[in-house]
Amino acid sequence: MTLKTALASATVLAACMFGSAHAADLTVGFSQIGSESGWRAAETTLTKQQAERRGIDLKFADAQQKQENQIKALRSFIAQGVDAILVAPVVATGWDDVLTEAKDAEIPVILLDRTVDSSDDLYMTAVTSDLVHEGNVAGKWLVDTVAGKPCNVVELQGTTGSSPAIDRKKGFEEALAGKDNLKIIRSQTGDFTRTKGKEVMESFLKAEDGGKNICALYAHNDDMAVGAIQAIKEAGLKPGTDILVVSIDAVPDIFQAMAAGEANATVELTPNMAGPAFDALAAFKKDGTLPPKWIQTESKLYTQADDPAKVYEEKKGLGY
Ligand code: AHR
Repeated sequence: MTLKTALASATVLAACMFGSAHAADLTVGFSQIGSESGWRAAETTLTKQQAERRGIDLKFADAQQKQENQIKALRSFIAQGVDAILVAPVVATGWDDVLTEAKDAEIPVILLDRTVDSSDDLYMTAVTSDLVHEGNVAGKWLVDTVAGKPCNVVELQGTTGSSPAIDRKKGFEEALAGKDNLKIIRSQTGDFTRTKGKEVMESFLKAEDGGKNICALYAHNDDMAVGAIQAIKEAGLKPGTDILVVSIDAVPDIFQAMAAGEANATVELTPNMAGPAFDALAAFKKDGTLPPKWIQTESKLYTQADDPAKVYEEKKGLGY
């Protein structure tokens, strides 16, 4: 047997063992929401890295926070005949038609980090955290920390109509249910951005006796918390002490704030949603293995006791 024929047989054998569709053969469309937060930036970076590592041709579309742009991007991916579509859906409703079009074109769709209200027949899997649980963990931390003392809470919600805004609110409220000492006195969207988080917190502070009537802030993401921390400082109060701060994501900046004593707790959301998504896709393309409808990522609580300065150092180069 010549070297050439030996290599050819090895290739055939490998194809029999591992199937013929390799990740490297795949073209995947990714409709990203935009760049509203540090967490979102990290998810974009990691998705691109994960695709490159696997030799996947990733077609990236930034929707600039608009669902209509996401729907257009999905239609364009379908027209191009991509092998799969990843989408981080900005809001939960309004996806049925375009997901049906993808299904009719036999293009598997994987949801990243947010869920939709559509039937789960319309997508292959969703890689997300348990968003209700995240809110619950934040709420339980607050319940335990105030230990029965009266506490007025203000809430900065994420983007209206998005699954994390809906579910993180629900989970937090569940944790506070029946705790008469804790009361959510104000709740408004800050759209997951630092700028809006600051703006809305300023209005909360003004409305609540310069902040004297506020005991804690719950923000649906760290970016809004970081903006709010600035507003609290400008109002002459000490964030983390005068007003407790608990939020979600675990981005490097919140660890800096925690190390400075200006934030108290955060619930981690991994930005690597694409790794599990590409693994599921590779298995499906190899031999038709279908993933579970929900690939759940972990949610870990960090507090000031977790050496935030060290965590900041570990996280700061990771694409946030
Ligand atoms: O869907 C995940 C959320 O979206 C993140 O918690 C937030 O930072 C982002 O904007």
